[in-house]
Amino acid sequence: MGADRSGKIGIEQNVAFLKRYAFLERACMRTLAGWLAGVPEWEAKNMIGLHIWESATAVDALHGRLRELRAHQPERGISDGLRALAAELDHAQTSAEVIASVYLVVKTALLEAYRAHLDLTWEDFDNPTVKIISEQIVGLAEAQVAWAIQFFPEVSARYPGWEAWRDYIAGLLVADGGVTGTQLHLAAPARPEGHALLLPWKECQRMPGWPVFDPSTDIEPDREAEPEAHRLWRFKHYLNEMTAAETLASVLWMTPEMPWEYQLNVARHQWDEIRHSQLGQTRIQQLGLQVADVPQVVQIYNVMMTLPAVDQYALLTTVIEPNGMPEKVTNREHWEAIDDEISAAAVSYDWSDENFHIRWGQKWTPVLLETYGYSETPEEIKARTEAWMLEHTPVKMQVKMAQGDY
Ligand SMILES: [Fe+2]
Ligand SMILES: [Fe+2]
Repeated sequence: MGADRSGKIGIEQNVAFLKRYAFLERACMRTLAGWLAGVPEWEAKNMIGLHIWESATAVDALHGRLRELRAHQPERGISDGLRALAAELDHAQTSAEVIASVYLVVKTALLEAYRAHLDLTWEDFDNPTVKIISEQIVGLAEAQVAWAIQFFPEVSARYPGWEAWRDYIAGLLVADGGVTGTQLHLAAPARPEGHALLLPWKECQRMPGWPVFDPSTDIEPDREAEPEAHRLWRFKHYLNEMTAAETLASVLWMTPEMPWEYQLNVARHQWDEIRHSQLGQTRIQQLGLQVADVPQVVQIYNVMMTLPAVDQYALLTTVIEPNGMPEKVTNREHWEAIDDEISAAAVSYDWSDENFHIRWGQKWTPVLLETYGYSETPEEIKARTEAWMLEHTPVKMQVKMAQGDY
């Protein structure tokens, strides 16, 4: 695998390998982000949201080590073959094809390469690389692949015919010399037919038969008069923060021109919204419901996808999230006052996360406006998207928040 007589790789080859690992991790992050809204299986959605963030942290750690090795442009010199693979990865058609290609092919090959790297590099001299791969990266890759292997039978049965796409992506990787690029290069395989790009998803997908939210029946119980009904209502809306994660993941996929730090922040932001959905799931289950009992607010993702990515990001981070803060403070005080410490703890972490989301919005909205050629100021896009939201949101709570009624 490119080693010399010592069985070790030199510093230049080390840098070349690390660049390819980072590039492939970023490709996995990107494809999974594009697909978050398109995968209907609830467990897979939750895990993919986590893995988008984990891949982003792996990329970031690898980029950091590459800078120490004086490689400041981690994507310079990446082969055309690997770039083609990354672009092709987005063209899966089903959950089974996404999981087979991203996890069972690319992440599995990455895991093998990470393990091999620990023996290939001069570990006495390259200890920082060994430390990063062994302590920050291998464990994540192992858990991701293990999850995919145990989950895959559920989707492979549902979407027959996925093997051709898995073999195609595997063939593209082999054709480019494998993860490290040092194995024998072969001819690229023929592309399976019928693989038009489905991204970005205009409508978020749920399992057939799952109930869909009906805005006309969404009545907020009075917090003081009906604390139990209010709590259940509120945590059902938390469960539906899945659509915020889906919005952010699609925004991430649609804005590849943005700096890496933005992508890292949005990867985390979408995972935080997955976590907020999970705190809703935990709480509604404690209160006696199941996820499939709770109507899904798919409308908010779907209507936001009629806007460009920049508008969606500005609307979420400079309108919806700041508007939502007072209600969280009031809920925490209310739940503490009635000794509901579980609900109070849940909202306290939500509130803490939201502070960062708002800060990221303030940081990145101006950069998005500049990058995508908008003439509006951050204040103007905030005002415009808030007016749009008041007209189009299916969730009355968002209107009430905008009016400062909490
Ligand atoms: Fe949230
Ligand atoms: Fe948030």
